[in-house]
Amino acid sequence: MESKINLEHLLIDIHFKGKVIDEKFGNSGKVYIVENEPHTIPEKYAIKTIKNVTEENFNHFHQEMSKWFHSKNSYLVTPHYAKYINGVPHICMPFLDGDLKNFMLNNSINEITALVFSLQITKGLLNLKKYKIHHHQDLNPPNILILDLSKKLHDFDRHIPNETFKYWLKVSDLGNANLKFEFGEGGRQGGKHPYKSPEQYRKYKYTDFEPDIFALGVMLYMFMTNEHPSGNLASKVLEDYEKIGDGSYWKDWACSDKNYTKIKNTALKKLLESMTSENPGERPSLVFIYKTLINQLTILSSCSADYLLFLFDYFDNYDLQTERKIKTF
Ligand SMILES: Nc1ncnc2c1ncn2[C@@H]1O[C@H](COP(=O)(O)OP(=O)(O)O)[C@@H](O)[C@H]1O
Ligand SMILES: [Mg+2]
Repeated sequence: MESKINLEHLLIDIHFKGKVIDEKFGNSGKVYIVENEPHTIPEKYAIKTIKNVTEENFNHFHQEMSKWFHSKNSYLVTPHYAKYINGVPHICMPFLDGDLKNFMLNNSINEITALVFSLQITKGLLNLKKYKIHHHQDLNPPNILILDLSKKLHDFDRHIPNETFKYWLKVSDLGNANLKFEFGEGGRQGGKHPYKSPEQYRKYKYTDFEPDIFALGVMLYMFMTNEHPSGNLASKVLEDYEKIGDGSYWKDWACSDKNYTKIKNTALKKLLESMTSENPGERPSLVFIYKTLINQLTILSSCSADYLLFLFDYFDNYDLQTERKIKTF
């Protein structure tokens, strides 16, 4: 019997000298996971391209590329290069071991991990600002990728205070980033319903715009309680939020007052309520969030806080171009 040939995969295999072993889909993009030629490092890499090629999607993808290639650091998924195949751009980037959605579905998250992960995402958002990316606008678990450091570094497990530190989170998918900054009020779009802020729904009600803080608050609450702040199980929201409710259900929730009685830690309760406040002008800054989370982590586990600060210091000073540390400490 003749076996079926996947021509798209064949093209990727030829142009990128590897073998497609998996395919993942986002809303508008398609990501091929490619195994490199034998005896080559890295063993795998990923190629992102457009899911349905239309003029609009093509232009959108080009905008994403221009933002992405300017923002290279350890807290973001950073591309290597782009190649055009039959006129369609393909971005080659490092392979990461999974995304936060799958991680949350398959692992229980304790309080230390909740704080460490949220701090890593906060650092990612702070780093985006360095590259003049003011808003990600689509922060949610599938857009946060996870590197398993223990797979990269020999004997790594022996040196870490707890399992949490095996993982390094990186913010990804700049598809909707800075649209508000570039296009004004018309550019408030983006966001997946359970993480989408009131000002992304009600375009003209608010002057402030802080969707990433809102989405980060939702995720931190999910890490801490295993529930979405709307009261739905985190797993249900992650698997199929459309089954829970349509756009107006999620909009009503986003615009409602929140009181998180499940959170016993007063500082974190206050932080979460303000992060998911209806009015974007009442949400705390990233710096305030960072300081509150690191203080809480220090109280909970000072050795975890020290270790995380050590890693931040390392990655803040790591030159991605030469892959060498650029500052000694
Ligand atoms: N570098 C990567 N390594 C491994 N998986 C990836 C990588 N980049 C993306 N993915 C997977 O592909 C999915 C879709 O990618 P994404 O960039 O978010 O596309 P879209 O713009 O369509 O949302 C992600 O949720 C993730 O599961
Ligand atoms: Mg995505």
